[in-house]
Amino acid sequence: MKEELNRFIRIAEKLIEDESNHPVVKPADYDELLSYLDLELHDEAISDEAFEKALTDLVLRTPKTQSSAFFNQLFGGRRPKAYLGELLAVLLNTSMYTYKVGGPMIGVEKQILKNISRLVGFDKLTEGTIAPGGSMTNYMSMLMARDKFDPESRFIGLQKRLIAYTSEESHYSVKKNAAFAGFGRDNVRVIASDDKGKMRTDLLEQEIQKDLEEGYLPFYINATAGTTVLGSFDDLNAIAEIRDRYQLWLHIDAAYGGAVIFSSKYKHLISGANKADSFSINAHKMLGTPITCSIILTVHPECMYDSFSNDAEYLYQDDHDEINPGKISLQCGRRNDALKFWALWKSIGTKGIEQMVDHEFDLADYTRAYIRRNSDYQLYSFDDSINICFNYKEVDPEKICTLLNTKAKLMIGHGRFKENKFIRLIMVNSNNSKAEVDHFFKTFESIAEEI
Ligand SMILES: Cc1ncc(COP(=O)(O)O)c(C=O)c1O
Repeated sequence: MKEELNRFIRIAEKLIEDESNHPVVKPADYDELLSYLDLELHDEAISDEAFEKALTDLVLRTPKTQSSAFFNQLFGGRRPKAYLGELLAVLLNTSMYTYKVGGPMIGVEKQILKNISRLVGFDKLTEGTIAPGGSMTNYMSMLMARDKFDPESRFIGLQKRLIAYTSEESHYSVKKNAAFAGFGRDNVRVIASDDKGKMRTDLLEQEIQKDLEEGYLPFYINATAGTTVLGSFDDLNAIAEIRDRYQLWLHIDAAYGGAVIFSSKYKHLISGANKADSFSINAHKMLGTPITCSIILTVHPECMYDSFSNDAEYLYQDDHDEINPGKISLQCGRRNDALKFWALWKSIGTKGIEQMVDHEFDLADYTRAYIRRNSDYQLYSFDDSINICFNYKEVDPEKICTLLNTKAKLMIGHGRFKENKFIRLIMVNSNNSKAEVDHFFKTFESIAEEI
């Protein structure tokens, strides 16, 4: 293994150096790219030199999502301590189902869950776990809600017409999960959002009433704290009141915006989160932890056991359920996604994470201020969000995003809200500074002018 660790360091150093000289990989057509690389798998072994070359070429041709020029998705920025935790978790290769196999890593996960629960402000006992992504934590919440509403369904299958509610700005996984959960995509009511991307709570209540009158069974609301396109926060207090009136399950999808629980300045955005039945947050988005680390908590610990536990004599041979988290997880074998986030949190403290989050918002403010004082730009997004959505002159957003990538200048995507299509700049890399924002605009404008 020592030899491979040395090889890892050699390749990693080349990557880091290449990343600072060329923050965007020159893209190539799929077939063309594959023809440069040695991906063929042969019957015979190859030499270590040939192996290292194949691996290095592959790494250097992979899109650099951690560089200062990546603004394309809701993650970015390499926090070294989190990477150290991830590398050690890979080396240990524990599986997080039992204390017998996970050892103290079970405690690491529980520590994170306890602290997140406290930051959300739950005053009840919570149970939770870490799953492979925000789509999956959304799914877990839906399964718990379904099983609480209709406990029989776990045994005989779903026989009732359950209805879920979410906003038109929520994550696409909600509909997909409805199909997985067996009640069907068409039974998700998509509620229109207001002009700031927040779910219209008046329409939510109207839809619930209409469904009740027509004999359907409303059971679940998925509210979003930090929508994918605009970064908007639904009015969680108002939605919780509706939940109380109709006795539904309220899940708060804070996969993206949940990071504000760390910030005294921005925590108000998520006011009401502590009223949720379940809450999820991705440490791999605003919190700079490698993909994936999605945390879900519920104030109904028994629901986690009801929905996810199953006896397995070959596996659960020691200790009690509380320290055998396989009993409350979606998977059997489960990666240790806790250590990387714990390593980051342990090293910089809660205050360090708060600074990271506030810095992302500061960079977003700086970016918005530039756009607002420059009449060539039109801004479509709002304050208190790290998503900056804009257009420049008459330039087609799709065209410029493609050109910026093909010229290996910047990686950035486009989005849509209601009838407007725009460029969507994500200020999620907490390693960036105002200099990278200035560089962004300089590069962006020069390419836009070419168009
Ligand atoms: C609001 C929201 N929820 C859930 C998800 C899904 O998270 P993941 O990509 O970890 O599955 C996303 C992803 O962007 C998101 O923006």
